[in-house]
Amino acid sequence: MKETMHKADLNWAELPFDYVRTDCHLEYVYRDGKWDEGRVVEDDTVTISVASTCLHYGQECFEGLKVYETKDGRALAFRSEENAKRMAYTAKKTLMVAPPVDLFVDAVDRIAKLNRRFIPPYGSGAALYVRPLLIGITGTIGIKPSKEYMLAVLATPVGPYFKSGLKPVRLWVEEEVDRAAPLGVGDAKLGGNYAAGLRATYGARDRGYAEVLFLDSKQHKYIDESGSSNFFAITKDGRYVTPKSSSILPSITNKSLIELAGDLNIPVEHRAVEVSELPNFAEAGLAGTATIITPVYAIQHGKKLIQYGGPNDVGPVSGRLRDALLAIQTGDAPDPHGWTHEIQLD
Ligand SMILES: Cc1ncc(COP(=O)(O)O)c(C=O)c1O
Repeated sequence: MKETMHKADLNWAELPFDYVRTDCHLEYVYRDGKWDEGRVVEDDTVTISVASTCLHYGQECFEGLKVYETKDGRALAFRSEENAKRMAYTAKKTLMVAPPVDLFVDAVDRIAKLNRRFIPPYGSGAALYVRPLLIGITGTIGIKPSKEYMLAVLATPVGPYFKSGLKPVRLWVEEEVDRAAPLGVGDAKLGGNYAAGLRATYGARDRGYAEVLFLDSKQHKYIDESGSSNFFAITKDGRYVTPKSSSILPSITNKSLIELAGDLNIPVEHRAVEVSELPNFAEAGLAGTATIITPVYAIQHGKKLIQYGGPNDVGPVSGRLRDALLAIQTGDAPDPHGWTHEIQLD
């Protein structure tokens, strides 16, 4: 058993999914063709040129992953290599320079270690959320890519994404706002995608729904995803169905659930899913780092209300998948796929 370190004085069980200032962030800079060693910054501000491409032309992308404390006090990062690869994909699409995978993975470990008193205790339901941010920092006025980039990495303790905790939520099918174009950047984790979706998300919230469900922007016929997560459903005969689309973010949680479903002998259909199929499903849910697996108990599609149970009902297949995923993430179950790695805290 590791020595228990002095934790920050926070009400861990009541933490919202929000920013809590921690002890420091990291800043790595790419200049003259190479990344530096990174520096620890205790202030939580970033100083860049007012003409930076990230501020004017959207050369900004990010990642998000969680670090959980195990029962015996170790800290596990979940699939940080996958986040590094997705950042590289996003960077390539927007002519940015991504940090090498090793640098990214190391930066995640480093920020978690530096802020280890903010890693929520095992069993609290909270986690340390690590947010690496890549921004173009060359000052320019013409529309062109930066020559210099900053990878800033912050860590903050978070609780459940939705106010209801992990309880089932209701979704609103959005028909007036598109999130991303089929040949656009919806599959990249660019800040601009979130700006594009905000008014739909808040429109849904104002109507009393926890989240929005976006449709494909070409035909409004297929389900894309929500503002924060991928969508999945369980058929009446127990198959895991999740949309395939060029305009949704390839979720690392969803990718893991697809593999876990295989382990649990749950057949998987990764395909285009028509919104008209919604009433045929037995269960529905959201999958993502922030939302973990949040069951969906009702979806409003125009005048139609589709229900999968009551606000306290977690479908049996969704529940099994969520338990299996969380058990691996928190070190309660063996990790046969090697998804987690221990952060050396000493
Ligand atoms: C739009 C969107 N879709 C899906 C996801 C889920 O992806 P992941 O499971 O990698 O966190 C996220 C969160 O990162 C997201 O913001």
